[in-house]
Amino acid sequence: MPRITLRQLLDHAAEKSYGVPAFNINNMEQALAIMFAANDCDAPVILQASRGARNYATDIMLRHMIDAVTEIYPNIPVCVHLDHGNEPETCRTAIEAGFTSVMMDGSLLADGKTPADWAYNVAVTRSVTDAAHARGVSVEGELGVLGSLETGMGDQEDGHGAEGQLSHDQLLTDPDEALKFVEATKVDALAVAMGTSHGAYKFSRKPDGSVLAMNVIEAIHHKLPNTHLVMHGSSTVPEELQDIINRFGGEMKPTWGVPVDEIQRGIKSGVRKVNIDTDCRLAMTGQVRRVLMSDPAEFDPRKYLKPAMDALTRLCKQRFEEFGTSGNASRIRPLPLAEMAKRYATGSLDPVHVAGCVSGE
Ligand code: G3H
Ligand code: 13P
Ligand code: ZN
Repeated sequence: MPRITLRQLLDHAAEKSYGVPAFNINNMEQALAIMFAANDCDAPVILQASRGARNYATDIMLRHMIDAVTEIYPNIPVCVHLDHGNEPETCRTAIEAGFTSVMMDGSLLADGKTPADWAYNVAVTRSVTDAAHARGVSVEGELGVLGSLETGMGDQEDGHGAEGQLSHDQLLTDPDEALKFVEATKVDALAVAMGTSHGAYKFSRKPDGSVLAMNVIEAIHHKLPNTHLVMHGSSTVPEELQDIINRFGGEMKPTWGVPVDEIQRGIKSGVRKVNIDTDCRLAMTGQVRRVLMSDPAEFDPRKYLKPAMDALTRLCKQRFEEFGTSGNASRIRPLPLAEMAKRYATGSLDPVHVAGCVSGE
């Protein structure tokens, strides 16, 4: 099956009221494990690669790897998405490399650390949508800065994310500004800030509305009922995955992620793309630790990578079921990029005024 664009996939998800997990990939084991789960669940999927993943694996390897998994699982629509593009040039090279969707994260400057102002964010994001839509490729933008409502800190991890203290205004996307931003940039999907952050250490206790502001999502959805919303930092950080890591020599401090029922609440209010990387890392690392600690004489990578892949597959299947993604792959037929480009050119994909216009059925 050809690759699908984010826009078409999320239009379908909106029509049928489900959410789509966007899993980060860096290597063959992750790609295979996620696709095995998608195939088992008949779920469309978003495979996303960060700048770090592109540096780690190279665009050529990623392209061939994704071609390979779509050949192995020909019935699964796969959206190939750039996660946190830091500048238009990064998005341009991703489009050249065959990505069907790019994120232009103009909430931060190109250094990936400094919060950007409104004019900068609108200008870089609009330049990417103009270029991407001309080729049928979708665009995700971000308004608001990801970070903790508990500490007020940005979510700097692995060299990406805002540094230092942020104001409450920066940490919560304003619904009126969201409407203006989507009108001005024409993004197909909007990532919003409401208390989630990347990595394992999101909350120091089970989050309530004071630190995970799902009401902000609801207010934005009220203003922008036809725009697909994206939740970043949406790993649940399950206790059982933390326990496996710690039981086998790891040193994770107690922590909480985003509860699945809060994501489900988001899906009822326009959240269509749910970004998950940390949970995948935890699932795999727990099994690698278990095998190597339990059998220190083992040195065949397949002996620890296979259980790691199985753990990732189990996690993905759970999320496909929980988000209602399961059962939808066979209901979608991907439209060619040229057809998407034509629809953008005629204005029939206006993100503010048009609802679910690319049905797969
Ligand atoms: O945005 C954060 C994702 O977890 C990707 O992480 O930049 O370390 O690949 P990464
Ligand atoms: P997590 O760190 O919560 O998995 O978030 C990943 C993400 O948002 C990637 O863009
Ligand atoms: Zn993110």
